[in-house]
Amino acid sequence: MKNVLVTGGAGFIGSNFIHYLLQTESDIKVVNYDALTYAGNLDSLADVADDPRYHFIHGNICDEAQVNSALKERQIDTIVHFAAESHVDRSILGPRQFIETNVLGTFTMLEAARAYWIKEKGQLLDRVRFHHVSTDEVFGSLKPGEPAWTEQTPYAPNSPYAASKASSDHLVRAYGHTYGLPYTITNCSNNYGPYQFPEKLIPVIILNALEGKPLPVYGDGQQIRDWLHVEDHCEAIHLVLKKGENGSTYNIGGENQPANLTIVETICDILDEIQPNAAYVPHRRLIQFVTDRPGHDRRYDMDTHKISAELGWRPRHTLKQGLLDTVQWYLSHPEWVAAIRQKQEYKGWMDANYKSR
Ligand code: NAD
Ligand code: DAU
Repeated sequence: MKNVLVTGGAGFIGSNFIHYLLQTESDIKVVNYDALTYAGNLDSLADVADDPRYHFIHGNICDEAQVNSALKERQIDTIVHFAAESHVDRSILGPRQFIETNVLGTFTMLEAARAYWIKEKGQLLDRVRFHHVSTDEVFGSLKPGEPAWTEQTPYAPNSPYAASKASSDHLVRAYGHTYGLPYTITNCSNNYGPYQFPEKLIPVIILNALEGKPLPVYGDGQQIRDWLHVEDHCEAIHLVLKKGENGSTYNIGGENQPANLTIVETICDILDEIQPNAAYVPHRRLIQFVTDRPGHDRRYDMDTHKISAELGWRPRHTLKQGLLDTVQWYLSHPEWVAAIRQKQEYKGWMDANYKSR
């Protein structure tokens, strides 16, 4: 792993991963390939912008010519593919972009990797790897009492987002099987932590609570997600790149499954504790139950025995400490937040998603 291309490196997990790589590996070159959609934000990487090991390319993963030349010019041996449309609610209101980016974009990345890495007669360049970052949502939804998902659980995606990610996972697998493209896939649960775009549950709740705005809980709030601190996720991906077996998939999860309402209440309690004189204490009174997400998956739970047994990974963060750190991160980065929230695109999305609920 010398020259790594990170797609979607200006997004939430991608930017955390670039920070992680540059901190962990000294002898590495990292290329961030990102189209800077509404979710892409170079402010998240301002501290590494001048690092000689880091290079940014403003490019779309659907642009085959640009991807081809990025791989060649930068002599890329490792692709870590994060770039995607990632928000389930947006996929319900506008699914087309999800098919284009997540399915066709991944297809384009695979074609470019195949063209650059696999020469005549199927001969491979040395030590190359396509790592695909996927989600637990490909497995669908669990009923009470059903066991956690393993790497063998059949796919049953429910939202257009989940279906587009499932489709991209299948393409990666097929390129490994048919063309011998070296690959690994990780399917991980809900991430939280620094630099998360403020349209996802945890930052929405923190930022609304600070301003005394309603805290929107979809449906009855008893949906269950498996919450993973983004730094634990980055560590797991790094380990899979180093030691993961070619052609393998690994589940990654946070080993905790609270109901959404519990997450929201915990954030309220944290704010009450660290800002006891704030105008909106107790923050729980701001909670508002709103119309549910169509087709809302009820419960997720990841079985992470494989990555723990094979690679020795386990999450380091407890949810309680991780949430406290995350609240403090948002409190201490008001400029980062304000720059996003002042954009018309952001305001338009928040209106479109919440006004009719
Ligand atoms: P994000 O929405 O915060 O960031 C996505 C990034 O991809 C942005 O920087 C955006 O500009 C870029 N991008 C989008 N379309 C692009 C295109 N056509 N070409 C190039 N760049 C493009 O997403 P995230 O939350 O950081 O998620 C990253 C990956 O992890 C995604 O593949 C997502 O499916 C997966 N994932 C996310 C979570 C989570 O909880 N956030 C959990 C499991 C899996
Ligand atoms: O499970 C992994 C997935 O987690 C990733 O693949 C996705 O990219 C990522 O966005 C995330 O999807 P979710 O739909 O679970 O994340 P979100 O933060 O949008 O919602 C988390 C839960 O909270 C979900 O059950 C919906 C609910 N919710 C969300 C919002 C934005 C609310 O109750 N109120 C809200 O305002």
